[in-house]
Amino acid sequence: MRIPLIAGNWKMNTTVSEAVTLVNELRPGLDTIQNVDKVICPPFVSLAKVKELLQKSTTRLGAQNLYFEEKGAYTGEVSSLMLAELCEFVIIGHSERRQYFNETDPIINKKVKAALKAGLKPILCVGEKLTENEAGRTESIVTGQLELALAGVDNIDGLTAAYEPIWAIGTGKAASGKQANDVIALIRWVIGRLYGEKTAQATRILYGGSVTATNTAEFLNQPEIDGALVGGASLKADQFLSIVRQTAEIRDLFTR
Ligand code: PGA
Repeated sequence: MRIPLIAGNWKMNTTVSEAVTLVNELRPGLDTIQNVDKVICPPFVSLAKVKELLQKSTTRLGAQNLYFEEKGAYTGEVSSLMLAELCEFVIIGHSERRQYFNETDPIINKKVKAALKAGLKPILCVGEKLTENEAGRTESIVTGQLELALAGVDNIDGLTAAYEPIWAIGTGKAASGKQANDVIALIRWVIGRLYGEKTAQATRILYGGSVTATNTAEFLNQPEIDGALVGGASLKADQFLSIVRQTAEIRDLFTR
């Protein structure tokens, strides 16, 4: 049975001092919740400080991006080697990176390889645009993104996938549980085709896009959905705690 994972993507929010405040609000509650992997992904500049604050905590740390070269003359970039000293997870291929920073599938592929090589656990995001969804192209878009992101990657141990339909991100218009479950089942099938059934069953696949404390149960009650990548609601301690708590309760029901 896969352990659910809830990851908070803080995006470009929180100064270092605001990040400290948010972690201090989150940590006591998060630490009491078991059987869910809890990950927070603050901006790069807060990672070192948050790592300190999370010492001896069960809450784990992730970054939101990386550059695929290990070091060198790439002004302003942050590499996998730098992150590996600070955190365990890294979000790769988020649709905002694809849209605003021109990240293509081949770039994302290099980032996945760099992360895995450095021992980081990628949270690989895929998802279709509204127009693609309306044109009935969701399955081919998601399959294509996944195949290209994983091209030449022999082993995906430690990788988590996230299905994030772009039309659902930050819009308040989440997919339905059933819609998300169907696409996630497809993602698992593609992983099975590429890496075998055992790996497909072991790989966690999250849903992301307007997840809140109100709709968490709709997603987490679906058999294929192993957790959530949460944006806006991860910036509010009470919301994020409620999402993680509900996830733990649903998991207890499944395993009872
Ligand atoms: P949202 O963002 O929860 O604010 O829709 C999700 C994400 O971008 O990962």
